[in-house]
Amino acid sequence: MNSLAPRTTTLTPSLTLAIDAKAKKLKAEGVDVCGFGAGEPDFDTPQHIKDAAAAALADGFTKYTPSSGTPELRAAIAEKLKKENGLNYKPSQVIVNCGAKHSCYNAIIATCGVGDEVVIPAPYWLSYLEMVKLADATPVIVPTQEANGFKLTADEFRAAMTPATKLIILNSPSNPTGAVYTKEELQALAEVAVEEDILILSDEIYEKITYDHTPHVSLASLGQEIYDLTITVNGFSKAYSMTGWRLGYIAAPDPIAAAIDSIQSHSTSNPTSFAQKGAIAALKGDQSFISDMHRAFVERRAFMHEKLASIPGVTCVKPMGAFYMLPNISSFGLGSVQFCERLLEEQKVACVPGIAFGSDAHIRLSYACSMENITKGLERIAAFCGSLK
Ligand SMILES: Cc1ncc(COP(=O)(O)O)c(C=O)c1O
Repeated sequence: MNSLAPRTTTLTPSLTLAIDAKAKKLKAEGVDVCGFGAGEPDFDTPQHIKDAAAAALADGFTKYTPSSGTPELRAAIAEKLKKENGLNYKPSQVIVNCGAKHSCYNAIIATCGVGDEVVIPAPYWLSYLEMVKLADATPVIVPTQEANGFKLTADEFRAAMTPATKLIILNSPSNPTGAVYTKEELQALAEVAVEEDILILSDEIYEKITYDHTPHVSLASLGQEIYDLTITVNGFSKAYSMTGWRLGYIAAPDPIAAAIDSIQSHSTSNPTSFAQKGAIAALKGDQSFISDMHRAFVERRAFMHEKLASIPGVTCVKPMGAFYMLPNISSFGLGSVQFCERLLEEQKVACVPGIAFGSDAHIRLSYACSMENITKGLERIAAFCGSLK
């Protein structure tokens, strides 16, 4: 008997996990490994957020909440979206999920199925591809140009479209490319989506982390027509260093929000009750944590970009957002997996092969790690690249 559903057999096992497992094994053996794999801020969750969740626990706020989240948190999110993003959503249009990853999954499951195509600009966050496959829909990968800062153009979007296109996934600021779309660039993509009646999933989880005064623009704020087609995704993981709390949210037109609530009510039910109290404290409390974290990322980004770009044979687009560098290593003649495997074996540096994000010409380095790790790791990468020439 074949016990597995076909959808599970098309899933790609995580390439990143293999490297990660090797790095962990080396560390456990006492080897001094420099890790650049982290996908989460290396800061603790601010104390006032932890206090609010702890108080909720002590008060016995430990039972089911409405599946869509507490009315208080949904109202706080709607207020945030209005104040910070220029988005008018009623609290009933906001559904709180178990992390932004869960938000993306719910959004895709709620809107896509057999026969639907989903446009994903590459390099992409690896989970999008697998989520589309889990929904039995078809991913359509559209490579973006490094020379263009890895941003999809309206023409590229139009060229990828077929009568089956249902959804496009945009992620600005982007993991892994660091691309941040300008208002004009988003406007051009929105025009195509509106013309062709294509839904857009706008993953804005890194909105608080942009550089050189680049503003973050929320796609759905660009007009009623694009608002009607957009599912906005955001959350608490990256802005407040709350990755383990598992809290994200979607804001969408009424029927989509209702469908997502319904899916959630039959799968995970509500996000964790006391974590939601922490999220309210995050949105309503002191925001200085964000600027402190941002300052650290600004410093690391400048240092890291300068060092990477100075390595002969390496080119690197300067990321405008998030906390990743995506250097191009294709001049060395190795695929990204082989490059990362050898880098780990020979210099004890762990990076993520770009092939995991749809580009074999690149590797991804997170700078959600200490300056000490960055400094030492980059020296080793330079030595490794030197040895390949
Ligand atoms: C682009 C992108 N979207 C969503 C997520 C998921 O965030 P969360 O931890 O809230 O599930 C991540 C996490 O790495 C991400 O990089």
